[in-house]
Amino acid sequence: MVIKKPNAPKASEITPEETFLNRRNFIRAGVLAGTTLATAGVYRFINAPAPPEVETAQIPNIENKNVFTVDEQMTSFRDITNYNNFYEFSTGKTSVAAKARDFNVRPWTIEVGGLVQKPKTFDIEEILKFPQEERIYRFRCVEAWSMVIPWVGFPLKTLLDKVEPTGAAKYVAFETVYDAKQMQSSFSAGIDFPYVEGLRLDEAMHPLTILATGLYGKLMPNQNGAPIRLVVPWKYGFKSIKSIVKITLTDRVPTTTWNIANGREYGFYSNVNPNVRHPRWSQATENRIGELSRRETLMFNGYADQVASLYEGMDLKKNF
Ligand code: MTE
Repeated sequence: MVIKKPNAPKASEITPEETFLNRRNFIRAGVLAGTTLATAGVYRFINAPAPPEVETAQIPNIENKNVFTVDEQMTSFRDITNYNNFYEFSTGKTSVAAKARDFNVRPWTIEVGGLVQKPKTFDIEEILKFPQEERIYRFRCVEAWSMVIPWVGFPLKTLLDKVEPTGAAKYVAFETVYDAKQMQSSFSAGIDFPYVEGLRLDEAMHPLTILATGLYGKLMPNQNGAPIRLVVPWKYGFKSIKSIVKITLTDRVPTTTWNIANGREYGFYSNVNPNVRHPRWSQATENRIGELSRRETLMFNGYADQVASLYEGMDLKKNF
């Protein structure tokens, strides 16, 4: 899967790590090495002017603050909103914020249907009135970088219960909006649009699985998947599909974007697993954005106590 030619920064542009440690004004440049979602951990810290902060409104109705949290430092708002994967806008992580700045996410609806008793198209304003909670989760990309993100959102189950899945529903399929005009994708991203993802119904109903409407207490910035995205903290980040417009309950394993692009490398489950290598790199460790030394990657991204039972008896190497 050829995405982009390597565009490594010139040696003169690369800031030594010691200098990086002392600097606050930096961004991180992703270096795509040519053939994949990206290359594991291959990026450099380069010195650059601070990117403009994105301004979104505060979310007023956040309840249950800090019920779900981790005892690790949160990644800065700046890093979370300037180091992104959102291929509809750009394959360059540090370019997404600027390219998505004018993305208009109002009006916005999500059509929820398929094998349900009460199909319904929800307006985003109605969804924002559901009780919202803060969930501070680890976020682990398949490329072996990670963050800790204070999401705002609500359990996906809350929405699915409203449409009453039938007994035949076994999976949930998700679809991102695709608006070629707004998304400026004249380049070849190397994947098909609209971006699609899927979960097993029990994964979708799990209390850790949320639809996120914001982060750091504010409405979701465009580059992070405004106005609403999925977050499944024990799976690699590409499962967390952004800017959702359609959710379909189905009895078939849903098609997923990265599986179509390269089925050998990106499976349907994509649970974080330090013991199962990506065909081209190890998943044993990760680069936590903002830290210099690598961390051990945790089984199910540290959520094994809550989710391991979903996969009891399954061969996780085969079902990767
Ligand atoms: N959703 C859509 N629609 N398009 C994408 O390119 N990238 C995925 C996921 N969801 C992607 C997407 C990948 S690879 C990752 S790692 C996360 O979004 C990145 O989320 P973030 O930019 O908020 O960190």
